[in-house]
Amino acid sequence: MIDYTKGSHLLLKQLPKGVFITAKGNDTVNTMTIAWGHIGVLWSRPVFIAYVRYSRYTYDVLQTANDFTINVPQEGALKEALKIAGTQSGRDLDKFKEAQLTLVPSETISTPRIKECVLNYECEILYTQTQEPALLPQEIKERYYPNHDTHIMFFGEIKFIDYQED
Ligand SMILES: Cc1cc2nc3c(=O)[nH]c(=O)nc-3n(C[C@H](O)[C@H](O)[C@H](O)COP(=O)(O)O)c2cc1C
Repeated sequence: MIDYTKGSHLLLKQLPKGVFITAKGNDTVNTMTIAWGHIGVLWSRPVFIAYVRYSRYTYDVLQTANDFTINVPQEGALKEALKIAGTQSGRDLDKFKEAQLTLVPSETISTPRIKECVLNYECEILYTQTQEPALLPQEIKERYYPNHDTHIMFFGEIKFIDYQED
């Protein structure tokens, strides 16, 4: 198994502030900001799990993707780009151009990674699951899902980690 702890201190610190999930589908590449996710071991494999709501264009792209990358800025960096990727939709504009982010080829998968990010995870989609609203505590359902815009969990097997340490 690859060493999935490489860079994990940075991922865990930066995740609540925002990291990028990038996916390449049939027709396009898109990125968006996420703050919810996990890294760990599942089915004896290193896995990253991302939570993407149905309404996101990224969800549409992931439907036709085999893989995705998780792109982590240096702690506190790329704030404007995270804001653009987290408030605008790839349905309306090219976020890479708008946020001045450069796509570069990955080592092991077809989705590219982001050059300006110091830590990039290459993940192959293993499994996808929709949250079951009926099983959620009432208080969480009311607060997070008043419009039934549920999160879909994308489980990606981590195939490669690129970490440009200082
Ligand atoms: C800091 C931050 C964290 C976010 N985390 C998530 C997340 O974990 N899951 C999600 O579905 N949307 C999340 N969003 C919202 C999406 O990034 C946002 O709706 C984005 O514009 C969707 O872009 P798209 O339509 O191109 O996919 C977050 C936004 C911000 C600013």
